[in-house]
Amino acid sequence: MRILGIESSCDETAAAVVEDGRQVLSNIVASQVEEHKLYGGVVPEIASRRHSEAISGVTQQALEEAGCTLDDIDAIAVTYAPGLIGALLVGVNFAKGLALATGKPLIPVHHLRSHIAANYLTNPDLTPPFLCLVVSGGHTHLIDVRDYTKLEMIGRTRDDAAGEAFDKAARSMGMPYPGGVHLDEVAESGNPDAFSFPHPSVSGAPLDFSFSGLKTAVINLIHNASQKGQTLPVPDLAASFRKAVVDCLVQNTVAAARKTGAEKVVIAGGVSANRLLRARLEEECRKNGWEFFRPELRYCGDNAAMVGAQGYYEFLRGNLAGMELNACANMAVDTLK
Ligand code: KG4
Ligand code: ZN
Repeated sequence: MRILGIESSCDETAAAVVEDGRQVLSNIVASQVEEHKLYGGVVPEIASRRHSEAISGVTQQALEEAGCTLDDIDAIAVTYAPGLIGALLVGVNFAKGLALATGKPLIPVHHLRSHIAANYLTNPDLTPPFLCLVVSGGHTHLIDVRDYTKLEMIGRTRDDAAGEAFDKAARSMGMPYPGGVHLDEVAESGNPDAFSFPHPSVSGAPLDFSFSGLKTAVINLIHNASQKGQTLPVPDLAASFRKAVVDCLVQNTVAAARKTGAEKVVIAGGVSANRLLRARLEEECRKNGWEFFRPELRYCGDNAAMVGAQGYYEFLRGNLAGMELNACANMAVDTLK
């Protein structure tokens, strides 16, 4: 079954054709990051406008690269929640238009479910159940994935998402938006023990995260030093901050895997590209005898191949929508069956 996936939840306009949830026939991503960089973060109004301009060309290109036309497509899957509402609406309305014009089924896909599904593209043998740490710019969740469409959130951040904390810390170190990837790179040459940052935990909720105190600690440290006319070594700051965030992510993931009795541990979302996080979790899984899975780097960030992948399993479950489909800015990962 061939699914056309469409993604516009944040600042990438993307379309892809995926066969049977696992095989990517094409994967086109038009990033707006250069424009948002000027403002130090995503400007929602600009994002919506750029999606409107790009979406039909990107979809056309995805069909061409897959060597097919709309006639060869069996269903249309689209990210409908969560995300920037104006951005989501562009993809949802475009997908609805295509579904109406062609009479093909319309499949609504939850953004975090699709990030998890990015792993099905990279790891053909991966099947649920597994434990997944989803770490993106907007979310940090521990999810018990019992089946492709049966998921339960068992841990979450109480304040900032890990990606958001990385981006804000990176900005305070003078790096451009989105800073997470730059911070990760600069950290490679720094000393992770140069600075001691707090490792916040949430009392009474060992699987929950809190990153805002950690983010504020690094910002204050830099600010106080600059008021005294001092400059701190950025590689050491980056390495120490990255270690603190990754320590928290790894600690709770290990606790969640033990609690759920997971045999497989998976990471997903933009921050799953982080070098230290990948290495540390791989090591923990090896020590504990769990299988470890992560997406290829090109499927870590937002893309539509992952939408086509999850769309397939939503279709098999009968999770279809009609012309009443609407975008939704916030939605729990376990809302649909
Ligand atoms: O999943 P994603 O592409 O978009 C959302 O759904 O939010 O995640 C983007 C986030 C950004 O905060 C970005 O800085 C972060 O992922 N990110 C990283 C790395 N690559 C991307 N954070 C840390 N290390 C990286 N290598
Ligand atoms: Zn995302």
